[in-house]
Amino acid sequence: MRDVSSELAQTCRIVVLASGSGSNLQALLDDPSPDWWVVGVLTDRPDVRALERAAAAGIPGATVDWSDYPDRAAFTEAIADSIAAFEPEYVVLAGFMRILGAAAVQRFPNRIINVHPSLLPAFKGGHAIRDAIEYGVKTTGVTVHFVDEELDHGPIICQESVEVLPGDDEATLHARIQRVEHRLLPKVVQSLALGHLEVTGRKVEGRVSP
Ligand code: GRF
Repeated sequence: MRDVSSELAQTCRIVVLASGSGSNLQALLDDPSPDWWVVGVLTDRPDVRALERAAAAGIPGATVDWSDYPDRAAFTEAIADSIAAFEPEYVVLAGFMRILGAAAVQRFPNRIINVHPSLLPAFKGGHAIRDAIEYGVKTTGVTVHFVDEELDHGPIICQESVEVLPGDDEATLHARIQRVEHRLLPKVVQSLALGHLEVTGRKVEGRVSP
């Protein structure tokens, strides 16, 4: 068997944080690159599908259980320590439903990205798809952005629109949005790994790999 350990040591280390299904994690796992690899998966609760996906791919997974900590600051410190233990270059929030405290953002500045199911700054928060349908927008979409200290606010890396169709409910629109997420996220990670993106203030310069 080919020893790839020295080759892997050259590539960009990615930690994925997830809270549920982990289909975005799966999209990363299904689109392998010589330039980056997922070194670990962390969740905020046990028994989630994302951990099964990690295990099936032979990737270490662990839970930093939100309910074990008295407040957001304590949880943030614990999960930041767990992230740091993997020595990642980048952290991907892929359906991670907890807000990380400022301490995590300060510890990994411009090294945490999030995938959000709307065209930010519209429809921030945990109900972006429902809110878009209720508002009656005809177009929503996907945003991949760096994480800063405000919710769904950091510098935007890329966005792609998704049409809202007559009769859409949350499930049908989410499915259409996720197809876009699953295509965009590996491209963004590839661009980060290749050093193609540069952040200046709110602006992200550079191109996302085609
Ligand atoms: C994604 O649709 C993402 O936009 C949102 O949470 C969802 C997570 O899906 N932040 P999955 O766990 O990756 O399947």
